[in-house]
Amino acid sequence: SLPEFVKIVDVGPRDGLQNEKNHVPAADKIALVGLLQDAGLREIEVTSFVSPKWVPQMADALEVMAGITRKPGVRYSVLTPNLKGWEAAVATRPDEIVVFGAASEAFSQKNINCSIAESIDRFAPVVAAAKAAGVKVRAAISCAVGCPYEGDIAPSRVAMVARMMRAIGVDHVGVADTIGVGTPLKVRAAMEAALEHFPLAETSGHFHDTYGQALSNIYECLQMGIHTFDTSVSGLGGCPYAKGATGNVATEDVVYLLHGLGIRTGIDLDKLVDAGAFISKQIGKTNGSRAARALLAK
Ligand code: HMG
Ligand code: MG
Repeated sequence: SLPEFVKIVDVGPRDGLQNEKNHVPAADKIALVGLLQDAGLREIEVTSFVSPKWVPQMADALEVMAGITRKPGVRYSVLTPNLKGWEAAVATRPDEIVVFGAASEAFSQKNINCSIAESIDRFAPVVAAAKAAGVKVRAAISCAVGCPYEGDIAPSRVAMVARMMRAIGVDHVGVADTIGVGTPLKVRAAMEAALEHFPLAETSGHFHDTYGQALSNIYECLQMGIHTFDTSVSGLGGCPYAKGATGNVATEDVVYLLHGLGIRTGIDLDKLVDAGAFISKQIGKTNGSRAARALLAK
């Protein structure tokens, strides 16, 4: 049976905007966070404490975290690839941090400039510091079904990285299809690999929609009982180190699917559509959510 409630983590302000070519003012990012929480989102991935040389769009992480108006009950997460990122982040009081590794060696090198084993060594003190500070730690495993450099990725690679993440004390694992190549059976295998090391309630799916498969993959996960997903308002997003990867599955489309299935999300779809319309206008892009476009045309 399908879950009764699904937790949506909107990664739009982070994953959605990190790859934008044109500068997005911090004020727009702050406004987007406000609109998302007003629409009922309870988990928002706000920004990344990464090298501004690597990802210029996230250079305003401190300003954005300082600018948001925190709403009780909403949890704000940020990406921290190393201790330097953690030290900058902790001052901004995130509820959760994200360390991001990969199931592919080549992608690990391209994205964070180190091997998988080295990445775990870097994450370990970050996880320890976060736990000491009472901050939850999520790990992303990129390229969990396919890699832009290595092609297909075996589920055993996902299990290996999940095991390493668990061993250093990570609380939650996000299985990420960075380039959106997955189809349901492959995604199921990757999820099952992660579930060898993490409980159902601490395993989530993060699907980019490059090949239009994300909703099918989410439906497959729902049938497995997975009830946490990363999505991005108006389908924004993409990783600068995964060429050709398009945005995350649109939050609006996922909410439409879930509500249609009778699954609660706590999200007001109309308000969410307005949030997506706002940011699409600000960055001058066509809204990437099919559900939003249909609702706006009504
Ligand atoms: P590096 O060059 O190996 O790092 O980069 P380093 O430790 O040698 O330091 C080099 C310079 O970077 C130094 O500055 C450091 O101070 C600075 P310099 O002395 O040259 O002026 N630096 C930092 N500055 C700010 N914040 C930091 C930081 N760390 C070092 N935290 C590093 C290694 C990890 C820093 C780099 O590769 C990096 O920033 N990568 C980030 C890549 C990224 O953000 N990718 C997108 C997010 S992941 C994603 O989108 C996938 C996901 O959505 C899931 C999925 O879809 O797959 C999560
Ligand atoms: Mg992503």
